[in-house]
Amino acid sequence: MKIFLTGGRGDLGQMLCTSLIGMGHTPVVFDILPTDRLRPDNTSTHVPGTPIPELIEGSILDREQLRSALQGIDIVVHIAAWHGIHEFRKEKSVYDFFDLNVGGTFNVFQCALENGIKNIIFISSTSIDDRYGIYGHSKILGEEIASAYAHRHGMNVITLRPRAFIPPWNKSVYSNFMEWCQWFTKGAVHISDVSQAVLKSVDLLASKNHALQNAPVFLTVDGAYQYTDKDLDNWDADGPSSTFKRHYAQFYDVATKLGLDTATKPKKLDITETQRVINYKPLYSMKTMLLELKKYGLAGPYRDRESNSF
Ligand SMILES: NC(=O)c1ccc[n+]([C@@H]2O[C@H](COP(=O)([O-])OP(=O)(O)OC[C@H]3O[C@@H](n4cnc5c(N)ncnc54)[C@H](O)[C@@H]3O)[C@@H](O)[C@H]2O)c1
Repeated sequence: MKIFLTGGRGDLGQMLCTSLIGMGHTPVVFDILPTDRLRPDNTSTHVPGTPIPELIEGSILDREQLRSALQGIDIVVHIAAWHGIHEFRKEKSVYDFFDLNVGGTFNVFQCALENGIKNIIFISSTSIDDRYGIYGHSKILGEEIASAYAHRHGMNVITLRPRAFIPPWNKSVYSNFMEWCQWFTKGAVHISDVSQAVLKSVDLLASKNHALQNAPVFLTVDGAYQYTDKDLDNWDADGPSSTFKRHYAQFYDVATKLGLDTATKPKKLDITETQRVINYKPLYSMKTMLLELKKYGLAGPYRDRESNSF
């Protein structure tokens, strides 16, 4: 199937492309990043040997170009957006957020409709809980557009709401693996699990074995946990770090030596509906993180990996 990825050269899009190609799909990446960076005589950081999908340099704000690029597409994964980090760092204005996250989302749904495309996966965010934040509000409006197109035009729409998933190899955000680990410890989802949720949504839409027409779904995407709800209710009842020690005794020494705060209580989200609808089974947990920390130390396992490498 031809899968169109808006913003497909970002962290999530790149991870999806590799898997989609492996699954026999044809990803078509539509992103504002210039494609001339990929010529052999320039500075592309793409790793030789890994597949490069079909790349189109374009903006979802350019309706003509978007409409034309969407011809012959089976499923759209709408990723492109300014996100929480751009609000936190004040890198984008309220107009930027409205234009890309709301106007851009409208263009994607309308241009898909005009091309007869029925299947759309919209990447939203758990930041919709921050309804008066700029980013959260823009995603609420994006979800509203997604919902309206599903109901009005009978589109099959899956809206995924991942919590923060900026990967440890994104050096513009994390300068080393421990910084990412500190953040992950608060409760988080690894980008590989977000990718899994998108791929399972693709599978469901491709199977046509679903009841999504006129019935959009909104699915929270969180990571895997060893901690139970009971652990969280009685957090560190036996003293600081006692819950961590009960689950991860073998990692306690290395984790504290490397500076991890083992008393951090994570926030866990309800993913029951996501499991039910797309059979989502998150794999990356605190234990996975601790295994990587023990094996690779502060440098982490992703030293040579880059964001925006194709
Ligand atoms: N990263 C997170 O922690 C997180 C958490 C929850 C939800 N999300 C959502 O996931 C999606 C993106 O995640 P990511 O981490 O891959 O982001 P990213 O910033 O790595 O990638 C976004 C891509 O969109 C492209 N883009 C920007 N403007 C565009 C335009 N006008 N037309 C086409 N492409 C454009 C950028 O060039 C970039 O490649 C967003 O919808 C975001 O709101 C992200």
